[in-house]
Amino acid sequence: MNNKEIVAKAVYEVVKEVLPLEEVRQLLENPKSTDHGDVAFPTFALAKVYRKAPQQIASELAEKIDPTSFEKVEVVGPYLNFFMNKEVISSIVLKQIVKEQNHYGDSTIGNHGAVPIDMSSPNIAKPISMGHLRSTVIGNSIGFILEKIGYDPIRINHLGDWGTQFGKLIVAYKKWGSEAKVKADPIAELLRLYIDFHEKAETEPELNDEARAWFKKLEEDDAEAIELWQWFRSESLKEFNKIYQMLEIDFDSFNGEAFYNDKMAEVVELLEEKHLLKEDKGAEIVDLTAYDLNPALIKKTDGATLYITRDLAAALYRKREYNFVKSIYVVGNEQSNHFKQLKAVLKEMGFDWADDIYHVPFGLITKDGKKLSTRKGKIVLLEEVLNEAVRSAKQQIVEKNPDLPNKDEVAHQVGVGAVVFHDLKNDRLNNFDFNLEEVVRFEGETGPYVQYTHARAMTILEKAGFVPAAETLYALNDADSWEIIKLLQSYPEVVMQAAATYEPSVIAKHAIKVAQAFNKYYAHTKILVEDDQKEARLALVYAVTTLLKEDLRLLGVHAPNKM
Ligand code: ARG
Repeated sequence: MNNKEIVAKAVYEVVKEVLPLEEVRQLLENPKSTDHGDVAFPTFALAKVYRKAPQQIASELAEKIDPTSFEKVEVVGPYLNFFMNKEVISSIVLKQIVKEQNHYGDSTIGNHGAVPIDMSSPNIAKPISMGHLRSTVIGNSIGFILEKIGYDPIRINHLGDWGTQFGKLIVAYKKWGSEAKVKADPIAELLRLYIDFHEKAETEPELNDEARAWFKKLEEDDAEAIELWQWFRSESLKEFNKIYQMLEIDFDSFNGEAFYNDKMAEVVELLEEKHLLKEDKGAEIVDLTAYDLNPALIKKTDGATLYITRDLAAALYRKREYNFVKSIYVVGNEQSNHFKQLKAVLKEMGFDWADDIYHVPFGLITKDGKKLSTRKGKIVLLEEVLNEAVRSAKQQIVEKNPDLPNKDEVAHQVGVGAVVFHDLKNDRLNNFDFNLEEVVRFEGETGPYVQYTHARAMTILEKAGFVPAAETLYALNDADSWEIIKLLQSYPEVVMQAAATYEPSVIAKHAIKVAQAFNKYYAHTKILVEDDQKEARLALVYAVTTLLKEDLRLLGVHAPNKM
């Protein structure tokens, strides 16, 4: 139980006749400074009922409150300031963590409801970008967070493996490509062809017509088109899988856009049945004026389907296949209009579950303040970033801990962890400028800092040979440990908040706060000194390692025991 709830119950006991529990809860405040205690109750709201001055009410209530959970209850003007009994609370919190271990903060609220998470979803024949990394790591973390509160996440990689760009690629390959070159360095070569196509199409617009024709062939199962497409796809997937392996991220499905090629006719039929399709200069659209949105373009003049048509088919498929309780799309903010249209069209089709669809957007990664664009060849290659981070981690480990046996494994966990944590620690909607030095930095509010704090705490436990026992009294009463206890105590709410807002940064920020509070404690306290609080201090260290490790796990980052 959190401190607010303890105070709420204690206050409610003495104001029962005039104030319901819920209202007491809502009146409680967090004092700005710890000098004013841990929770405050303002009495203004009671002045009318009691017909007394708030100051007087405060003094009278203070007399009546059951003091068991409190060190003191101070009256400051119209306020009651509650100072929690640190020994009582710390023992409750530490015992619970010792008992529940990494399951502390779990909940069953999700009731095994299926939640498909559309994440990563890079485009074939293009490098996986920093933006796709964001989608990958945010989606992966949301999966862990939802799982912690009882949902069943399904990680789906909605590969961009269909669309007019494949027409362009086939044209470019047939005109200027070579099999040997593609085989030697698939994505770089396919990207070069794609960029070439766009440059040349600026002066030779008829190339675009050729590309359209080739995509049409692809849609119609033309053997040559399919063969080239399949080859581009499998070469690209090999490259993507390297990254996913580095990140240790698994997908439940790789059903990308092409998977829906034969499932779009149904969408179009349904739209026709409900008289939602309108003709507009030869194209088929759904009017969305009622939603204050641009019309959704379902079929082009040449009959080719579009991104949104495939997403409509995918939404129907996922509902049928998984019977989801919610369906999440972790995709950049620049596509929010697309997802508004998607939901609106589903709504128009009469599917109430359109309300269970959530676009979870994130901000842009820029380089030197400018947008990264694949078309212009301005990209940051993710694999290079990860490799650089691992290299840098290795270097630091060799310097600081030359005797560590599994240096390469730890360097991998720390380097990759640094990149992932860097991405997740800020509110996902924030834009940020990419800076490699910043990403592989190990000091300050970084992944390696949290990992290092965890490893350091593990070493203390190892030295002490600590064995947690859930029936021991773990009573602490100093100010530094109290700061940690409050952070540990709030963990179940932190997890719920992260889940409710689809915001891994809530978890990352919690990890940083715990690490900072612990390092402060460690600097001021002799943990291993023999006195009657030693076991309690060790239980605190144990709880810190448990929660840091769990925080990192929820972010998709390892917590090595030594580094
Ligand atoms: N492939 C797309 C891109 O890179 C992202 C796909 C997102 N998922 C979806 N169901 N639309 O922009």
